[in-house]
Amino acid sequence: MMISIQNVYKTYNQGLTNEVAALRDINLDVQRNEVICLKGPSGSGKSTLLSIIGCVFPPTSGAAQVAGKKLSRLPDRFLTIHRREYIGFIFQQFNLLPQLTVLDNVMLPLMVFGYPPEIRCEKAVALLERLGVEHRRHFVVSQISGGELQRVAIARALINDPPIILADEPTAHLDQKLSERFLSFMEEFKQEGKTIVMTSHDPLVVEHPCVDRVVEMMDGRTRSSCS
Ligand SMILES: Nc1ncnc2c1ncn2[C@@H]1O[C@H](COP(=O)(O)OP(=O)(O)OP(=O)(O)O)[C@@H](O)[C@H]1O
Ligand SMILES: [Mg+2]
Repeated sequence: MMISIQNVYKTYNQGLTNEVAALRDINLDVQRNEVICLKGPSGSGKSTLLSIIGCVFPPTSGAAQVAGKKLSRLPDRFLTIHRREYIGFIFQQFNLLPQLTVLDNVMLPLMVFGYPPEIRCEKAVALLERLGVEHRRHFVVSQISGGELQRVAIARALINDPPIILADEPTAHLDQKLSERFLSFMEEFKQEGKTIVMTSHDPLVVEHPCVDRVVEMMDGRTRSSCS
């Protein structure tokens, strides 16, 4: 199992007056090479669950195992190391550094792995080419379009070749044509053996042939259904 979530709870601001039970007793297994879509109303816990799978923070209680590691037992800095190696996270707001160029943004995750600069550049350019944004590589990120931004965000997420891809509301800022393009990239990555978890309420995503399973979320709980 690539991802195994058992009896997971996540409570924000525990013990405070603004306490939120965002996840309550979540159980979810994702097999290697499976594509899952988390669907549900705003506030149902989709991004929170994606963050736990993405090693952003550990669950408040319960067991989460991602790519063979038990997250609840990992101190923060090990969580970060695990995330760098196994997770490619495509954030809803892209989270790129606006003052840097496209190329610098995509090469950034390779820094910690100690690749020499020319190898970093080669890898980044190859991925940008594949995603069709290589012509923008010297542009500052604040000066490119939304669809280009997202392809840069995909490139940055995948530059380390992680086995798990996570995408939070990936089509929220895209028109239909770009959404379809995004999904065809996901289809390609699936064929390469990646395991993918997306959150979305967009029918284009939920009903896409590359999605193996839709998991519905409601008030911090899940309900599985086949797609
Ligand atoms: N950092 C935080 N601190 C406190 N509460 C939070 C935090 N992040 C999320 N929450 C709360 O946890 C609940 C689940 O939030 P989450 O972002 O996981 O929902 P979501 O399903 O992704 O919603 P959306 O579709 O709007 O993105 C919500 O009630 C939200 O207000
Ligand atoms: Mg969300």
